[in-house]
Amino acid sequence: MSMHGVSNEDNTDLDKAQSKEIRKRSLRLLFSLVRPIRARLAASFAMVLVSQALRVAGPGLIAFAIDTALPKAIKGDLSVAWLTAGAYLVAALASAALTSFFLVFAQYTNQSVLFEIRNRLFRHTQRLSLEFHENYTSGRVISRQTNDIDSLKELLDTGGNEMIAGILYMIFTAIALATLDLQSFLILLCSLVPLGFLTHWFQTQTKFWYRKSRVSSAKLIVHFVETMTGIRAVKAFRKEKRNQDAYNELVEDYRGVNAKVIQIFGIYDPGLTAIGNIVVAAVLLFGGFRAIQGDFQIGLLVGALLYAKRFFDPMENLAQFYNAYQSANSSLEKISGVLEEDPSVPEPAHPVEIKHAKGALDFEKVEFHYGNGKTILPDFNLNIPAGQTIALVGTTGAGKSTLAKLVSRFYDPSVGEVKLDGISLRDISNHDLRTAIVMVTQEAYLFAGTVADNIALGKPDATIEEIISSAKAVGVHEFIESLPDGYNTDVNKRGGRVSAGQRQLISFARAFIANPAVLILDEATASLDIPSERLVQHGLQTLLKGRTAIIIAHRLSTVSIADRVLVMEHGRIIEDDAPATLIAGKGKFSKMHKAWRDSLA
Ligand SMILES: Nc1ncnc2c1ncn2[C@@H]1O[C@H](COP(=O)(O)OP(=O)(O)O)[C@@H](O)[C@H]1O
Ligand SMILES: [Mg+2]
Repeated sequence: MSMHGVSNEDNTDLDKAQSKEIRKRSLRLLFSLVRPIRARLAASFAMVLVSQALRVAGPGLIAFAIDTALPKAIKGDLSVAWLTAGAYLVAALASAALTSFFLVFAQYTNQSVLFEIRNRLFRHTQRLSLEFHENYTSGRVISRQTNDIDSLKELLDTGGNEMIAGILYMIFTAIALATLDLQSFLILLCSLVPLGFLTHWFQTQTKFWYRKSRVSSAKLIVHFVETMTGIRAVKAFRKEKRNQDAYNELVEDYRGVNAKVIQIFGIYDPGLTAIGNIVVAAVLLFGGFRAIQGDFQIGLLVGALLYAKRFFDPMENLAQFYNAYQSANSSLEKISGVLEEDPSVPEPAHPVEIKHAKGALDFEKVEFHYGNGKTILPDFNLNIPAGQTIALVGTTGAGKSTLAKLVSRFYDPSVGEVKLDGISLRDISNHDLRTAIVMVTQEAYLFAGTVADNIALGKPDATIEEIISSAKAVGVHEFIESLPDGYNTDVNKRGGRVSAGQRQLISFARAFIANPAVLILDEATASLDIPSERLVQHGLQTLLKGRTAIIIAHRLSTVSIADRVLVMEHGRIIEDDAPATLIAGKGKFSKMHKAWRDSLA
């Protein structure tokens, strides 16, 4: 599996093939967004086309009015003058009406695109496997959903419509000028050379500096999110000053980059105006000479001047648009990176159905490493019969949590199979898997909502009686009753705040109500003090009854309720027997157990 989304994050120099792939990927996303609304886009385009053509008609009509209608009117024939004035009015009004309608219409389209991409990103990010989330930091996930969507929004809100309108307007103006007076058109054509150079310079500069600016702002966000999510560690280690300094530096960096961008605009805008003015002066000069010599009508001169002057009007917006486009483009590239990331543990297309799992687990010739990392489990074989309670012990880093993640299918083994009741986990649907196997970890996350809601997470259709009886079963009922609103206490409200240990107790109740065939507790009692753990010990026995259980625990007190102890070291099982046998023996576990008992004494 490749981490596409990771690769184009910060480094500006990607090799050619890679950036081509990234461009293709972002085009695919764009097409997939545009396809469902292509009819609406075509309608929008037709509206802009007509409205811009009408807008460009103005100077032509003025030229006609001066050269044809006016002389006739002077001679007493007002009909042509009325007609021309009428046409001018109609063109102006129709163009305004169409433009206004188009803007509203386009906004609806834009909003539906943004809606779609927001939803798609959320759905997909949530669906991605744990492997993605363990690698892609939360700061980056957040910046995809905020920063990047915002820059798309900015492009769609302001730039997009104006760009199409602006380009069409310039084309129509050039055509109109060419029809009206070829010489003036040639002058305009000459101006495209300096205009091209100036704009090219502007684009290369802004491309570079905008990229820097995006990297800077992304760093700001990442630093901010990291500081705030790690605020406990920040406080504990008095890291505030250092963080502040680092943040200041980043802000300063960001400010410097933005100042540079403003400078570039400070050159480009006046440059544009200067070129426009020179063109107008040249048209006036050459046209004026011809008019004096009598081979150029005044009306045509006025029309040509108006066109030449107006030609440059959209240029500044287009240049602005280019920047919005740049940043939206890179955002689209990053978003498409996340969207094209496949879940590393895909759901099977044709799952084998498991109605009532018994809970027998098998590791068959399993080898495992994270991504391209070092091998964590070199050659792992294990059979756990249904209903057995296993205590898994071993030093930190031995691979216990990795084993637990393989059983929960947060990861697939690199080689070999993990099986539930003889069926490979790869062939079981997510629904059946989540029903059969539940893991409780040290984190014991509580979602916004009441305590009852949080317990019912294990069984969404649970009645309040079931919720209470599961809380009683794991011994947490009295505690919940003591909360301000009992089971209806909001866990995020003042007074509803529960300690880490209490969260773990609630998550036991959540696991109990889910009634899985296989239960994994990974250091799930680590936040409990010894008296609470004793209390839980009793609850634990209820919790484990009738199911397969793997208990990973620091404190060896849990071992007494296990049928079998596995001692793990460097990704291998080095001891495997009944607790009493191991304690009586001379192996590693016997030593661990003795040390633990001495520590209690
Ligand atoms: N997400 C991960 N990516 C890469 N390596 C990991 C990841 N999680 C754990 N490891 C590595 O796997 C090894 C076993 O870790 P783990 O299973 O968490 O050990 P234990 O739970 O026994 O303390 C460690 O060397 C650890 O560095
Ligand atoms: Mg662990």
